[in-house]
Amino acid sequence: MLSRSALIVGVAMMFAAAPLVASAKENTFVGVEKCGRCHKKELYGDQVSVWRKGPHGKTLETLGSEKAAEYARERGISGSPQQADECLQCHVTAHGVDSRLIKYELDPADGVQCESCHGPGSNYRKRSIMSDKDKFVAKGLVSQTEEVCTACHNDESPSWDPEVGFDYEEAMERIAHPTPPDVRGRISEIEKENEKENEKD
Ligand code: HEC
Ligand code: HEC
Ligand code: HEC
Ligand code: HEC
Repeated sequence: MLSRSALIVGVAMMFAAAPLVASAKENTFVGVEKCGRCHKKELYGDQVSVWRKGPHGKTLETLGSEKAAEYARERGISGSPQQADECLQCHVTAHGVDSRLIKYELDPADGVQCESCHGPGSNYRKRSIMSDKDKFVAKGLVSQTEEVCTACHNDESPSWDPEVGFDYEEAMERIAHPTPPDVRGRISEIEKENEKENEKD
């Protein structure tokens, strides 16, 4: 059983026992813009816009609020919560992770982005991999479980209310960003067909 603090950096825990130097095969963080190359498209369900409007798209901003300043004061944190490791560890993807695991510089303003939940994406983001479930699972796209969420949604958060706790089903509904059901599992196929059509024009 991993401790919570190990889980806090989310998927980075996978590297806890790994050598410091990321090998060519190791997944590294690429940032939400890279995912957006495909997942901003309407055809896919534009997960990037859904995420940005949802609670995880502005978690850095939240650390600038009056409430955040109050939490920080209570914990004896001097300075802005937006600069404090104690807060950023759950409010920003890959905060504090070894820099060798960061392929492209991440923008802290992106808050808790895709890779906090789906795992760092350098190896699975390629089209040839993403169009095949067996391949993207093998390349480290994280299959979803409640533990992905409770790495941050736990009693180490100043906002934690033990009376409310964390209701996975309800929370999932609130962040839903589905692939449209009519194209699910067929997007690569559809894109190939479209390319063929364009060649004919
Ligand atoms: C263990 C992970 C974790 C840590 C550490 C953490 N947060 Fe959060 N924070 C969360 C989660 C998860 C939520 C959303 C939970 C909710 O609103 O029910 C949240 C929500 C918030 C909110 C908005 C909700 C509210 O209560 O007003 C503020 C403000 C906030 N955090 C500030 C901070 C500050 C300041 C720190 C550092 C002192 C911090 N957080 C550290 C996970 C964390
Ligand atoms: C807070 C965690 C979290 C974040 C952030 C997140 N996702 Fe997800 N995502 C999930 C979970 C959990 C599921 C599985 C939902 C289910 O099938 O019940 C999922 C499902 C998906 C699916 C499959 C949808 C379907 O219909 O099967 C896609 C595609 C996806 N996410 C892409 C993204 C992209 C791109 C981003 C960033 C813009 C992102 N996600 C951000 C947790 C997250
Ligand atoms: C890397 C840390 C992290 C992970 C992992 C994470 N969250 Fe969050 N989540 C947060 C933070 C921080 C907030 C606070 C958002 C704010 O107020 O800015 C939040 C807010 C939320 C909220 C809004 C809560 C409220 O009371 O307003 C929901 C719903 C939510 N998360 C669902 C999920 C689900 C479902 C998962 C797992 C699939 C998940 N989260 C994984 C950090 C995380
Ligand atoms: C080159 C285009 C492309 C890029 C870049 C890309 N994806 Fe995908 N992604 C796809 C395609 C195609 C699918 C399959 C959609 C379908 O047919 O249902 C997919 C599916 C997914 C799924 C659903 C998995 C499932 O179980 O069904 C998730 C989650 C996901 N992508 C996350 C990401 C994340 C996170 C990134 C960035 C690190 C990313 N993708 C980058 C093309 C891409």
